[in-house]
Amino acid sequence: MYALLDRAYSSLRGMTDFEPDFGIVLGSGLSSVADRMDVRCRIPYAEIDGMPVSTVQGHTGVLLLGTFGGAKVAVMQGRVHYYETGNAALSVLPVRLLIRMGAKAVILTNAAGGVDPSYDTGDIMLIRDHISLAPNPLVGANDDRYGPRFPDMTDAYDPQLRKTAESAAQDLGIALKEGVYIQFTGPSFETAAEVAMARALGADAVGMSTAIEAVAARHMGAKVLGFSFISNKACGLNDEPLSHLDVQKESARVADKLASLIEETVRRAEV
Ligand code: HPA
Repeated sequence: MYALLDRAYSSLRGMTDFEPDFGIVLGSGLSSVADRMDVRCRIPYAEIDGMPVSTVQGHTGVLLLGTFGGAKVAVMQGRVHYYETGNAALSVLPVRLLIRMGAKAVILTNAAGGVDPSYDTGDIMLIRDHISLAPNPLVGANDDRYGPRFPDMTDAYDPQLRKTAESAAQDLGIALKEGVYIQFTGPSFETAAEVAMARALGADAVGMSTAIEAVAARHMGAKVLGFSFISNKACGLNDEPLSHLDVQKESARVADKLASLIEETVRRAEV
């Protein structure tokens, strides 16, 4: 996997010498966040040697380089979920690439189901911590050049960046929830019993990404900030059946709120 990362990095460096301050990963339906940035360069994943390509509707699969909130950013518009390949280490390769390019912090975003019964469609949750029910992406041989065998996960979601996001949200008049994200493997949505279990475990929002990416980013020593956009109430808290199309539609509708929050957070953050 590290050889594949080296290959993707060399391939990318054949196209650009851009060094971002922040890496940003955009989740389902949140691609329009990229509309606000000043894009200098667009690189389809397919042009990067060794890069896994997303197969999910709403995940564009383009790397955008440019400026946002006055900072240099590299934005992965679309991610590769664990359920697409069954390979957690491969799924986190794009995040590793962002950090290898120079990003000191990564901002991970996702669409998620609200597990806390008080959460409503359209809410944004700042991720305080996570529970991962997906395989750990660090399983397998470790390459010490990338990070330690046993990375610490205390304060995995950077407390200082979280404070910055909270104050940005307050000044923008955006009500921000704060809670624990739980990653299931997907791709089926959870059962009502699994959602009840997630709640009992201490989760506030449920999705199929992000936690394994945060693990890989911490492994490489990058700071992590995470936002869940609540696209629906999770199964059992909602009378409607869940559909990916609804997730995408709801995300697109409120993506602008999240975009302005990320923009203002990046503007204020020091990494
Ligand atoms: N469950 C899992 N992933 C999701 C959901 C959900 O309810 N909504 C958006 N992504």
